[in-house]
Amino acid sequence: MISKATAPGKIILFGEHFVVHGTRAVVGAINKRVTITSEKNDTAAISISSPLGKATIPITEEIDSVEKKFRPFFFIAKEVISDHNFQNGITIDIQSDIPIGAGLGSSSACCVAAAASVSNLFSKVDASQILDLAIDAERTIFPRTSGADCTVSTLGGIIEYQKESDPKAIKTEHDFDFIVVNSQKMHNTDAVVKRVNKFRDDNADTFSELCTEEDNLITKAIDSLQTFDLETIGKCMSQNQIFLERIGVSNDVLLDIVKTIEKETFGAKLTGAGDGGCVIALTDQSKKDSVVENMSKEYETYPVTIEKTGMQVNITN
Ligand code: MEV
Repeated sequence: MISKATAPGKIILFGEHFVVHGTRAVVGAINKRVTITSEKNDTAAISISSPLGKATIPITEEIDSVEKKFRPFFFIAKEVISDHNFQNGITIDIQSDIPIGAGLGSSSACCVAAAASVSNLFSKVDASQILDLAIDAERTIFPRTSGADCTVSTLGGIIEYQKESDPKAIKTEHDFDFIVVNSQKMHNTDAVVKRVNKFRDDNADTFSELCTEEDNLITKAIDSLQTFDLETIGKCMSQNQIFLERIGVSNDVLLDIVKTIEKETFGAKLTGAGDGGCVIALTDQSKKDSVVENMSKEYETYPVTIEKTGMQVNITN
């Protein structure tokens, strides 16, 4: 019996970093997915095959001694095996079309799809349990995660997210055309989040004011997403970029991309942790192809849309 699950990547439209400190964020699933298949094996090991390499790890191994890139998968398999008193191992295969280390939610989508695929080998999956397991798995490599990325990957669509509250779907009939420009500089989310923590400790008043401004911006942005007011959404994105610059997570390459693409779109900002990774811009559908063509001269650039379908899982024999 093979269990197969898929989950989408994400873009953060508004509120990255501030969300780690309790402010709201607006996050959208994108039409790039990870697919994970798993099956029980008759060894005493977890075998993992991913675009980043292969490993076979004895079930008795401690989580902390497993290489970071395999740790969330090992954690999920070990948890599920123990919950079901299973005596053997599990084989997990990961395929992905989400760029890695680019701020597009590759690791969260992997955690969600792996949690769903492995759990489904033993019992019918429940989305909220899958989400909890996925967030715990992500914490093995990124202890401070807000949970926003795994949540949108599980639910799909666009959500308003705040830690300790139920996520709210932002309902809209419209299709949004975003363009992703990859600076091709890999980043380390945990390291950037730590830096923002330090910024907050050293500049408590400024940070608190920025959180309030970000929250006000998000109220306006949600309203304009619902009314499909593309110009206002774009302006809010550009304003959000300025807040992100103030907390020190942008850099020269990202700023250069933002300034260039802003000229022919409604607005642009970095997305995710920053300090590398991607910029997103909101475009008019009719201009999408020409913007992609222009930006592609210098950077890897592609259009993305919002993916309504979150995590999906099934069994094949
Ligand atoms: C990373 O995609 C987004 C951050 O806000 C971290 C988080 O929310 O866990 C930087």
